[in-house]
Amino acid sequence: MVLLILSLTCLFFSFGLSVGAEDGHSLWLRMVETHQKATVVCDPTRKGSTLDIAASEIETFWRGRGIVEFQFTDSKKISDEGYSITRIDDDYVISARSEIGMLYGAYGLLRMQATNYRISNNHTFFSSPYYTHRILNHWDNINGTIERGFAGRSIFFPLSTNGSTPHIRPFNSTSTPLQLPFNSSAITDYARANASIGINGAVINNVNASPKILTDANLFKIVDIANALRPYGIRLYLSINFASPLTVPSADTGKTLSTADPLDPAVQQWWAEKIDHIYKLIPDFGGFLVKANSEGQPGPMDFGRTHADGANMLADALAPYGGIVMWRAFVYAQNSPDRASQAYDEFVPLDGQFRDNVILQVKNGPVDFQPREPVSPLFFNIEKTNLMPEFQITQEYTGENIHTCFLAPMWKEFFESLRGSNSSRGLNSSRGLNSSSGSRGSIAAIAGVANIGNDIDWCGGDMAQANWYAFGRLAWNPELSSEKIADEWLSQTYTKAREFVDTMTTLLCNSREAVVNYMMPLGLHHIFAGGHHYGPEPWYSPKNTRADWTPPYYHRADSVGLGFDRTTEGSGNVLQYPDSLCHLYNNKETCPRELLLWFHHMPWSEIWTPLCRQYDIGVNQAEGFVETWQRMQKYVDTERYERQLSKFQRQASDAWWWRDACLLYFQQFSHMPLPDGSPAPRHTLQELMDFHLDMDMYTSAEKFKTP
Ligand code: GCU
Repeated sequence: MVLLILSLTCLFFSFGLSVGAEDGHSLWLRMVETHQKATVVCDPTRKGSTLDIAASEIETFWRGRGIVEFQFTDSKKISDEGYSITRIDDDYVISARSEIGMLYGAYGLLRMQATNYRISNNHTFFSSPYYTHRILNHWDNINGTIERGFAGRSIFFPLSTNGSTPHIRPFNSTSTPLQLPFNSSAITDYARANASIGINGAVINNVNASPKILTDANLFKIVDIANALRPYGIRLYLSINFASPLTVPSADTGKTLSTADPLDPAVQQWWAEKIDHIYKLIPDFGGFLVKANSEGQPGPMDFGRTHADGANMLADALAPYGGIVMWRAFVYAQNSPDRASQAYDEFVPLDGQFRDNVILQVKNGPVDFQPREPVSPLFFNIEKTNLMPEFQITQEYTGENIHTCFLAPMWKEFFESLRGSNSSRGLNSSRGLNSSSGSRGSIAAIAGVANIGNDIDWCGGDMAQANWYAFGRLAWNPELSSEKIADEWLSQTYTKAREFVDTMTTLLCNSREAVVNYMMPLGLHHIFAGGHHYGPEPWYSPKNTRADWTPPYYHRADSVGLGFDRTTEGSGNVLQYPDSLCHLYNNKETCPRELLLWFHHMPWSEIWTPLCRQYDIGVNQAEGFVETWQRMQKYVDTERYERQLSKFQRQASDAWWWRDACLLYFQQFSHMPLPDGSPAPRHTLQELMDFHLDMDMYTSAEKFKTP
């Protein structure tokens, strides 16, 4: 082998350059540059830009004394994107089949360094990603705003006119935060952060897609983004609007069409031309994400066709180029007797009718990213179509960028619920991890709705970064525990001091349960305020609003009790689950306590006291976060300490807000006193009903207060 000591000087990484006040910008990539460049060895005949990046990362940040050698391999023990690392005394060999495998290996080795993990001498560590498609979904609009984004504006689309993203900030933060520059080095930093945790795809625009994304003006700009992502192994995908042919000129004739009917040859031709045009600009383009016939978006059903007709038409046009269609199953219609049942009703009859390059993208739960939901029944019933789970990293329903809610435990719960039910169906042994990963069929894919914007810290809060990290790590290896991921993230982001890492790992791993407890315990769901999904408004029910957009549709409080009856006596939703789960959920004696009010309308005599207790536990937990963080002060720099302290304080006062609003409101139905030991409310129901959150921090931060 020809040895070459690489000297790379032209790669510029801004992470290491953040000086002065600690602004959170460096994420978990706080590697310290070495004075003496590490000795890196690789095969020059395979030298390319991705391999250069891998070598440069090691050269710049590896502090070991020996040599790090990159060796290509065709070993069957390593998958296309996987790697192995062998240690021989102070030397390390990173082996991979591909350049991107080398880059993942470089980040793997640097992560070991950053977390004090050492491979035993003469041993090899193997790592290959579980999912082949590990994709972030950005809900970025082409005007620069971000739907459900809490970290500023889009890093992909410059802000056009006057589009402000609704944004909640801690009450003591009155200034607009520092923001990233809108340029390709920000995209490179983004790509690097993703590559360091194994993410390999990005859908860069909102699922509520503007047809204009497919105009030449936008496509030409997107080429630059694809070029910046490519060296980091990230493929670019686009969300499309199904009715685009009606308003966007064809790539060849320059004409628009009068229909978007997927069975119309002119429509098929329009898409074929557009896709050919995109691949000429972006040869490794990944494909489309489609939200169709959902929440007012157009789709094939507008033309009397099915989801399968629509998805297959796009899939056929993408197939010659190797592109895929991720077709979302997030559908629900007005007047449906049970929103949780609708995706099953629409998609199960179509199972087996989709092309091989279509994947149904299904939210983890059947309603909409609630703090806790059971697994969507589609994961049990779609057998002949590719399937992928969609998680939400952005905390739309779990406290936005304010509340600490580490989501790894929620995602692990999803995998574990599938594993449990599959093993009871005898599937686990034959299908291995596949049975519990939520992915089915020939493509193993997973998506997460990103929490990234142009705030200098990327996520609008230091703790929120942990969820981006956790998604990447679980997409690589869903077997990792929440504790391991939290430990890794904390050690790399703050300090390796054991007291800090152990204490904060416990806090992070309890945080999602705390959020459930003070917001919607025991299976309550979707009792958010009208207009935002941050605070409570269980009473919100204006005339002329769709019932399924109001909390009473979900909590069903009445003189008898509380909760949505989804048993065989109620909406029958339990019947969409495999027999073992159906029986478990249908009986209130066996139904898991944390899902009781999801599946049962429980009499007040049985539910009132447990409900009060659970809200009280949640408030205690949130107050405990403040105390824990104060104890950790000595381990954290002043800037991040202060920022996080104000967020924990706000989370604790919001926990009271949730608890008081829900218990005082439900008490009108239960007519029961708070149980012994439950503290008196801090607010009156009237005060809380009169309170409305001011959403636009950019214009009125100083007016913003919690109740
Ligand atoms: C939720 C969310 C919307 C989003 C939708 C979706 O309903 O509030 O903003 O568009 O999910 O996932 O399509």
